[in-house]
Amino acid sequence: MKTSTVLLAVLVLFAGCKPGKNSETSLATLQWGQADGLPVHQFTLANKQGMVVKISDFGATITQIWVPDKKGLLENVVLGFDSLSGYQGEHPYFGALVGRYGNRIAKGMFTLNDTVYTLAVNNGVNHLHGGLKGFNKHVFSVDTAYAAADSVVLALSYLSADREEGYPGNLKVQVQYVLTENNEIKISYKAETDKPTVLNLTNHSYFNLTSGKEDILGHQLVLLADSITPTDSTLIPTGILAPVSGTPFDFTTPHAIGERISQVPGGYDINYKLRNTTGTFVKAAEVYEPKSGRVLEAFTTEPGVQFYSGNFLDGTLTGFNGVVYKQHFGFCLETQHFPDSPNQPAFPSVVLKPGETYRQLTVYKFSIR
Ligand code: GLA
Repeated sequence: MKTSTVLLAVLVLFAGCKPGKNSETSLATLQWGQADGLPVHQFTLANKQGMVVKISDFGATITQIWVPDKKGLLENVVLGFDSLSGYQGEHPYFGALVGRYGNRIAKGMFTLNDTVYTLAVNNGVNHLHGGLKGFNKHVFSVDTAYAAADSVVLALSYLSADREEGYPGNLKVQVQYVLTENNEIKISYKAETDKPTVLNLTNHSYFNLTSGKEDILGHQLVLLADSITPTDSTLIPTGILAPVSGTPFDFTTPHAIGERISQVPGGYDINYKLRNTTGTFVKAAEVYEPKSGRVLEAFTTEPGVQFYSGNFLDGTLTGFNGVVYKQHFGFCLETQHFPDSPNQPAFPSVVLKPGETYRQLTVYKFSIR
C-alpha cells in the first residue's frame, strides 16, 4: 500500500472518532444496589460531545459529571461516592435532590392556614433540607429514560405522603434531567399537592472544576446578585435584604472564592437574591477555574441561590477516586427560594395549593475558556 493511502486511511479513522466524542447520544442503566427493599440504579447519560452525567434514582442524585478541560481531558467535576453505600450513609447532600424544603426552617415550625406544623429539628435548633429522611434518602420511580438525537432524558418521580417529615399534603414530585449537546444539564421540577403545603426543591451538587486536585478557593466566581439575606447565628435570615456592594459578598464582578473568605466568619453560606422574583429565567452565576479552563454557568427561574463554600467538609469523607473531601473542596450553587420563607411573609411565597403546579427550572452549563 502506498504511504499516501495509509495516511488517508489513518486520517479517515481519526476524523470518525475524535477523542472524547461519541457518534451518538446514549443512556445506560446499571443495577446499583437496594434501598428500602427497592432496586436502585445508576444511569449514565452521554452526549455526542463526550460529556457524561451519572444520576441515581436513590435521592434523584447527580453522582458524577464528566466534562473536558481546555486540553480535552475528561474529568469528574462533582463530589460524590463510587458506590451506593456512600450515599446511604451520613453525608452533606452530595448531588442530591433536596426536599421538601431546601435550606432551613426556623425551629422546625411554620403556620399555614392557622395550623401549626412541626418538623424535625435536625440542624442545631432548626430544620434543614427536608428533615431526618429527606428526598435525598428516598428511591425515586423512573418515569422516562431515553437517548434522543440531540439530548438524553431521565425523569424521576416520588410520591411524598401527607405528613411525611411533618409536611402537609400528598405531594407528587417529578424531576426531569436533560443532558444537551451544549453541555448543559437542564433540571426541571414539577409538583402537585392535595393540601396546601410549602415546597422548595434544589439540587445540592458540590462542584470542583479541578476534579479534586485542589480546593475551590482559586475558582473565580461571578454571582449576578446585588443583595443577600443576612442570617442570625443559626443561619436563619433576619428578614432584611442587605446590599453586597463594598462587602466580601460582592461577586457582581469576578473574584476568587478564597480572595476575601477570611473576612467571612465560617466561609460563604448565604442566600443571594437574584435579579428576578417573578419566575423569569435568568443567569445566576458563572465560575471559571483558570488551570483547567473549565467554566460553569448556572441559570434559574428561582429567586435565590445559596452560595456555599463547603465550609463543613472536614476531611472525614473520602469520595470518588479516593479524594479526601477537606474544607472548601467543593462549592454549591443551590438555586432556591429564600431560607425560612414559610416564616417570613416578606419573602417570595413557597406555598403550593391543590390545583396548582409547581414548576422550576435550573440549568448548569459547562464550557472551556
Ligand atoms: C447548605 C446549607 C449549609 C450546609 C449544607 C450541607 O448549603 O446552607 O449550611 O448545611 O447545606 O452541609
